[in-house]
Amino acid sequence: MADKTLSKYKSGNDWASYYENTGQRPPRSTVIYALDAFEREETPEFLRAADLGCGSGRDTIEILRRGWSVHAVDSSPDAIKGLMAREDLPEDAEIEPQLSRYEDMRLPGCSLINAAFSLPLCPPIAFPYVWQKICGAIRVGGRFSGQLYGDRDSWADRAGMTFHTAGEVETLLKGFEVEYFIEEEEESVTPRGNLKHWHIFHIVAKKI
Ligand SMILES: C[S@@+](CC[C@H](N)C(=O)[O-])C[C@H]1O[C@@H](n2cnc3c(N)ncnc32)[C@H](O)[C@@H]1O
Repeated sequence: MADKTLSKYKSGNDWASYYENTGQRPPRSTVIYALDAFEREETPEFLRAADLGCGSGRDTIEILRRGWSVHAVDSSPDAIKGLMAREDLPEDAEIEPQLSRYEDMRLPGCSLINAAFSLPLCPPIAFPYVWQKICGAIRVGGRFSGQLYGDRDSWADRAGMTFHTAGEVETLLKGFEVEYFIEEEEESVTPRGNLKHWHIFHIVAKKI
């Protein structure tokens, strides 16, 4: 489940080739879990989602395909350009792309906020404010899906990225019912031949 493609990229640059390598891959298990959970509920929810750090859209396309409107946020022009140029983007897609950092993004009220492998790239100083913005935008009964990185990840000393202990994640999720939680720790060799320790929290949580 670790996104090994990520290890080829330094945070904040060379995203274009990351998008090329990963954009057509299937949606992440976390977004699938969240979308399926909405579909199991009887009351049709207010189907508006935000996809934070959407990249070239592997999750955005799935959310749209399930009949949602999507507010797609990314700070990389290549991401937004790539997403809007996708051949599988439905013509009538209700999508609002926003070229913005999380710190500056405008978030409408949403039933789903998805952030797949993207929030750890928020600097620690901004993270509490960004998380507060996310929690404020999710309607009661809505969900957060995505990944946070753990404090034992090899990248934990990288400047500009945010890592959490399991206890800190638990605190962030107060006010949510946690529906899917996998703490992954894995050793693997990166495409550049370096040993990398992954420590990732995969999360789907429902706001109560
Ligand atoms: C590893 S990619 C993940 C892309 C996609 N969510 C996926 O699952 O493949 C992280 C994305 O977050 C975006 N990103 C990184 N820092 C950001 C920030 N501070 N504000 C908005 N987007 C950011 C990057 O441009 C990149 O597209």
